Amino acid sequence: MTDSPTDVVTMDKIVALCKRRGFIFRSSEIYGGVASTYDYGHYGVLLKNNVKAEWWRAMLQERDDVVALDAAIIMHPRTWEASGHLAGFTDPLVDCRTCKQRFRADDLKAASCPRKPSKHPGEYDECDLTEAREFNLMFETTVGPVREAGATVYLRPETAQGIFVNFKNVLQFSRRRPPFGIAQVGKAFRNEITPGNFIFRTREFEQMELEYFVPPDEADRWFEYWLAERFGWYTGLGIRADHVRLREHGPEELSHYSRATSDVEYLFPIGWSELEGIANRGDYDLLRHAEFSGDKLEYVDSSTGERYVPHVIEPSAGADRSALAFLVDAYDEEDVEGETRTVLRLHPRLAPVKAAVLPLVRRDGQPELARAVYDRLRPVAQVEYDEGGSIGRRYRRQDEIGTPWAVTIDGQSVEDQTVTIRDRDTLAQERVAIEALPAELRRRLEAPWRTPKPGAPAPQPDSTTA
Ligand code: GAP
Repeated sequence: MTDSPTDVVTMDKIVALCKRRGFIFRSSEIYGGVASTYDYGHYGVLLKNNVKAEWWRAMLQERDDVVALDAAIIMHPRTWEASGHLAGFTDPLVDCRTCKQRFRADDLKAASCPRKPSKHPGEYDECDLTEAREFNLMFETTVGPVREAGATVYLRPETAQGIFVNFKNVLQFSRRRPPFGIAQVGKAFRNEITPGNFIFRTREFEQMELEYFVPPDEADRWFEYWLAERFGWYTGLGIRADHVRLREHGPEELSHYSRATSDVEYLFPIGWSELEGIANRGDYDLLRHAEFSGDKLEYVDSSTGERYVPHVIEPSAGADRSALAFLVDAYDEEDVEGETRTVLRLHPRLAPVKAAVLPLVRRDGQPELARAVYDRLRPVAQVEYDEGGSIGRRYRRQDEIGTPWAVTIDGQSVEDQTVTIRDRDTLAQERVAIEALPAELRRRLEAPWRTPKPGAPAPQPDSTTA
C-alpha cells in the first residue's frame, strides 16, 4: 500500500533502505532481535540528531520564552501516582490460551492470529481468548542492590512529568513568568502490547516535549497558537502540506488530564496516523503534584502579589516517529536513462550528510585535491569523502542517504581549481571555484527548500528558515 496514488513509497521499502544504508537495524539482531526495538546506525543517528536539533532550534533559538531541561529517566515513584499513570496508564489485554499470544482487546481487528491463513484473534474455532484485563504499560524495576528490599521505580513513559516536578526550580532560577515554556528531549519507555510498523511504535523511543505554562484565561488562545506553530514546523521542514493534517480528539478520546487535544497526523503508508499530540492539560498536573508533594506549585507576581496555578499547553512529539515521517515523505524513485534511481529528497537541514566529496578517478592528483576540498568543507557541515567504486555507484549511494549535493573533483579541477556541484533533486551540475565552495555550501544550507515531489508544497517562505 502506498500513501497516495503518486507515491511509490511503502513501509517495506523504507525498512529495506534503512537496513541497506545503515540507518536503522533490529536491536540485538545476532541474537534474533528484540521485538519492536531498534538500533540507529551512523546515518540514522545523524538524521535523528538533525530532527531533534531542528526541534530545539524552533523551541529555543528562534524564541525567547522557552528554557531547556534534561530530567532523569528514573523519577520518584510518587510522580506516577500523582500523574495518574500508576492507576490509569493501561491498555486492555487479552491472552489466547491456545497460541499463548497477547492482544489489545480494543484493537483485535488490527491484530493477526499467528495461524495461517492469517485471521484476527478469536476468528478460529481453536482461539481461546481470556477476559480482558487492564495491563499497565510502565516498565518496572528496582532501585538498590537487593530486589526485595529495594524501592520499585518505573522507566518514565513520557518526559513531561520531569518538567512538571521541576516547575518550581525552573521558575525560581530562570526568572520567568507565564507565558513561558520548558522543553525537553529524551527517552521514554512503554511496554506496548502491540507495537509495530517499524519505528512508528516501539517500546523505547524518544520524545520532544514542551510544557508551555500560561495564565488560565489565555489557555485557549495559546492552544490554537501551538497547533499552527507545530503544523508549520513539519511543512517548514519539507513535509508536503497535503500529507499532514490536524485532527481534533472527540470527548471519548481525551486523556484524563486533557481539556482539548488535537493530533498532528501524517499520511504514512499505514494510513493517517499520529505524529504529535497537542493538549490543553489545564492545571491538572501542577495541582496533582502540589497535592502529592505538599509543595505549592504556582506563580506569584512579586509586584502585584497576584498568584495562580498556570495552565499548560503541551505539544508532545516523537523524534523517531518524526524521523520516520521525514523518511517516508522524502522517499522517491525515478527513471534515469532506463535505470531506477532511488532518492531521499530530505530537506537539506535534515539530510544526514550535506555534501559528498568525490574524486572522479583514483589517480592524477584527484584524490589528494578531493581530500583538501573535504578538509575545507568539514568546518561548515557534515560532509563525507568517498573514492571507492564507479562515480555512478557513488552518486546512487549518496542519493539513497539523501545527500543534497555531490562535489566532484575531475581532471579540470586539478588544472583550474574548480569543482562541479551535482544537485540531488534536479541532477543539474554547476562548476564552482574551490575557493568559493565553503560559502556556497553555507548559502545553499540557508536557502529555502521545497520538495520536488508531487503533492501540495510547503508554504514559502517557511517559518523555520525565516
Ligand atoms: N506527554 C504526552 C504524551 O506522552 P502521547 O500522545 O502518548 O502523549 C506523544 O505521546 C508522542 O510520542 C506521540 O505523538 C508519538 O510521536 C510519540 N510516541 C508515543 N508512543 C510511542 C511509541 N510507542 N513509539 C514511538 N513513538 C511514540
